[in-house]
Amino acid sequence: MKLFTWTPEYSVGAKAMDVDHQKLFDIMNKLYDISDNQNAQEKIIPLLKELIQYTEYHFREEERLMELAEYPGLTAQQREHKSLVDKLKEAKDKIDTNPNMSVFVVADIAMTATNWLKSHILKMDKSYEGSFKSAGLA
Ligand SMILES: [Fe+2]
Repeated sequence: MKLFTWTPEYSVGAKAMDVDHQKLFDIMNKLYDISDNQNAQEKIIPLLKELIQYTEYHFREEERLMELAEYPGLTAQQREHKSLVDKLKEAKDKIDTNPNMSVFVVADIAMTATNWLKSHILKMDKSYEGSFKSAGLA
């Protein structure tokens, strides 16, 4: 079952950022699926690592564009971004120390991260569209 499917309501007006957000939701959906599949347990850590890496890559890129666009909300965005990365890393640490909890931890982090990103896009990311457009970045 898919946790969430991206819809145009979640567009931030910058194509590359929309593509990144879709990719992140895609990895989160896969993680949630895995939590339900006893035969795919060994895939949990690689997929969680992929999510951490892609999230860090995407936030770096998004913050780089915000800097270029002189977007005033950059600092608040950096703080929020760090909070998600911390949650993802905490989940990985929990699984590393307690592998028999991986199914619960991964289902929980997939849901938490999906809800976090949905709300972050709607409440924060959508606000940079104007700055990105004026700077020729969208
Ligand atoms: Fe953001």
